[in-house]
Amino acid sequence: MGSGIAQVAATYGCTVKLFDTRKEALDISQGKLEKILSRLIEKGRIDEAKKEDIQTLISYEEDMASFADCDLVIEAIIEDLDIKQAVFQQVESIVSKECIIASNTSSLSIASLASVCEKPERFIGIHFFNPVPLMKLVEVIPAVQTSSDTLKRAKAIIDSWEKLTVVAKDTPGFIVNKVARPFYSEALRIAEEGIADFATIDWAMKEIGGFRMGPFKLMDFIGNDVNYAVTESVFQAFYYDPRYKPAFTQKRLAEAGYLGRKSGRGYYDYATTIEPQHPDMDEALGQQIVDRILALLIDEAADAVMYGIASVEDVETAMTKGVNYPKGLLAWADEIGVKEVVSRLDRLYAHYHDPRYRCCGLLRSMADDGRTFH
Ligand SMILES: NC(=O)c1ccc[n+]([C@@H]2O[C@H](COP(=O)([O-])OP(=O)(O)OC[C@H]3O[C@@H](n4cnc5c(N)ncnc54)[C@H](O)[C@@H]3O)[C@@H](O)[C@H]2O)c1
Repeated sequence: MGSGIAQVAATYGCTVKLFDTRKEALDISQGKLEKILSRLIEKGRIDEAKKEDIQTLISYEEDMASFADCDLVIEAIIEDLDIKQAVFQQVESIVSKECIIASNTSSLSIASLASVCEKPERFIGIHFFNPVPLMKLVEVIPAVQTSSDTLKRAKAIIDSWEKLTVVAKDTPGFIVNKVARPFYSEALRIAEEGIADFATIDWAMKEIGGFRMGPFKLMDFIGNDVNYAVTESVFQAFYYDPRYKPAFTQKRLAEAGYLGRKSGRGYYDYATTIEPQHPDMDEALGQQIVDRILALLIDEAADAVMYGIASVEDVETAMTKGVNYPKGLLAWADEIGVKEVVSRLDRLYAHYHDPRYRCCGLLRSMADDGRTFH
């Protein structure tokens, strides 16, 4: 597990063994933990005694044999199926029969990871959001092989860390990384079509839409390499469904090394040598941008419910707590009117004839029947 997960688990009294194959990675984790704890003291959230308690509960391990008495092992290593599978086989040869084995993977299927285990029914996905100590949301993902007892026990442990757990089906991107795609991709499409520039789209989404950060600022924050990789992996995993098609604009930025804040340049320039972009604060244009992106976000949220990826309640929790959306997308649909959302999608579809804008069956039947989500 990573240093953030270790800190959270130890805060709630769990004995934690942080393992990495590289000694320097363990040193980095120890340094990160020290920083997290000092910040918590500064904020008055813990005192020196609590800091020491937490530190005593965490040990830094270079030998996996120490896992023998673990109740739960959470893997958070490099995103590579073969490497992860090899590690799970090794873990399973060490831990007890009752131990739950979990992966923090963002993009791999839980079923494929579980498949190499002798007892796949004890395997589960437990997906945290960064920064782990601050982000309340945790997606818990049972694979087809996972037993109901494993799901119940895993959920109880994470809930006892005062996290908000949502249960997601083992489908690409789980809840958050699937439903949030249009926030980035439709903003990119609007910019590519020349309807508005990055600064105007960011201004509209923040000031009119009420989102904490505009999509381009957020992509620069996440890193264009990381954000592009997530989009591409969801696109491939959904059998190239056009709704998830990545944008050339972002691919080129990633290829150029314009990764965002971490490289000093992305959609914006952070070296301050170039005149900053100013938004075109045209209210009508801003509203049009928000309406378009929001219609696609709502469509994704409804699609997740229609395919049983998650319940209405869990989709709302995932998007408000995992990516800080100002309100639940389905509550937003009720507020706008499901019928109106459907007609916005239909107008886009009629204009572009791109299946990206096809309206999800659930939304259409709800509009026909006059139903609401809440
Ligand atoms: N970075 C995020 O924002 C984020 C968020 C949620 C989930 N995740 C998931 O967490 C996992 C790790 O992501 P990351 O960005 O920290 O990856 P990373 O590649 O930066 O870090 C991986 C760590 O795993 C260690 N490692 C590699 N092979 C190992 C092995 N065989 N045994 C033990 N340790 C090994 C490396 O030394 C390194 O310290 C991935 O599955 C990713 O999908 C990442």
